[in-house]
Amino acid sequence: MDRINVLIDKLEKEHILSQSEFAEIIRNHTPENDEYLFEKARTIREKVYGKAVYMRGLIEFTNYCKNDCLYCGIRRSAANAERYRLSEEQILDCAETGYKLGFRTFVLQGGEDNHYSDEMICNIVSEIKKRFPDCAVTLSIGEKSRESYEKYFSAGADRYLLRHETANEEHYGKLHPKELSLKNRKRCLSDLKDIGFQTGCGFMVGSPFQTAENLAEDLIYIHELQPHMVGIGPFIPHHDTPFRNEKAGTLEMTLLMLGLVRLTVPNVLLPATTALGTIHPKGREKGILAGANVVMPNLSPKDVRKKYLLYDNKICTGDEAAECIACLGRRISSVGYELVTDRGDFRK
Ligand code: 5AD
Ligand code: FES
Repeated sequence: MDRINVLIDKLEKEHILSQSEFAEIIRNHTPENDEYLFEKARTIREKVYGKAVYMRGLIEFTNYCKNDCLYCGIRRSAANAERYRLSEEQILDCAETGYKLGFRTFVLQGGEDNHYSDEMICNIVSEIKKRFPDCAVTLSIGEKSRESYEKYFSAGADRYLLRHETANEEHYGKLHPKELSLKNRKRCLSDLKDIGFQTGCGFMVGSPFQTAENLAEDLIYIHELQPHMVGIGPFIPHHDTPFRNEKAGTLEMTLLMLGLVRLTVPNVLLPATTALGTIHPKGREKGILAGANVVMPNLSPKDVRKKYLLYDNKICTGDEAAECIACLGRRISSVGYELVTDRGDFRK
């Protein structure tokens, strides 16, 4: 039998491979191997979650950021970014609109912006939970102290997303300024899990300097952490960053990683990301068929959408949330799945 398919079978059984085995798949896979992998990924995910694709309402509430990650369009030194902050009231209005549209999960995402104190974040979280008790609240606001994470959890936050970006120290150093470290990123992720958050890590595919071995390390780290969610999308250059002339990650490699993550953590909640939809018109549909089971349409007010640009050519920045839901519903049924509105909690 085909060597790569043998490795895929092994991963399906054991949920882990060695770094060199993962790297071998990443280097040598063919379209036939991919189909073999995706078929397995769909079967596993359907065993756990059926045909459901969960919807998360993304509220991008600030594009101020104190960090200077080299890939990111809202990095501190992106001088042309038009900065904005939503008030507490505007955030609650977004949630209200979202609730009426059927959303039962809100993801509050922003740059690392110290304008929002822990107290403000906790107020926003507890107010959303008070008004919409049947909803899950997810935070995605970066690296904080364990004490801050504990406060958010006590205020009622259910989930936290913090991509690790790359599990290799040296690679991490090439993507980030020296104040940031992989060690602290991993500390945050283990604190979050330990506190009781449904926790998400993740990485970009095709980021500058990334090797097959690096991607293999990402998979091994994910297996170690056992996150509830994994966010994976292609790297896409942003014109106002040092990586403006770098190549974007490919559809094919992103889909492969989605399939491999599904086999590594069978129960994982795995979004078909907006970045994937940006590099290919059918990217998100293909992501679902490779093992993804979440989509995250944008709920931010229309006038700020075009300002939260982590990368160039981002899709859906001109569409109302309602239009995105209708569009996503059609896209997802076109590949045989069903867009659902419940909280979509992690299943053991
Ligand atoms: N291309 C693709 N994804 C990006 N992100 C940041 N910048 C880019 C880019 N240029 C991702 C990072 C971050 C998440 C919110 O968005 O992985 O964690
Ligand atoms: Fe936003 Fe299609 S999902 S317009």
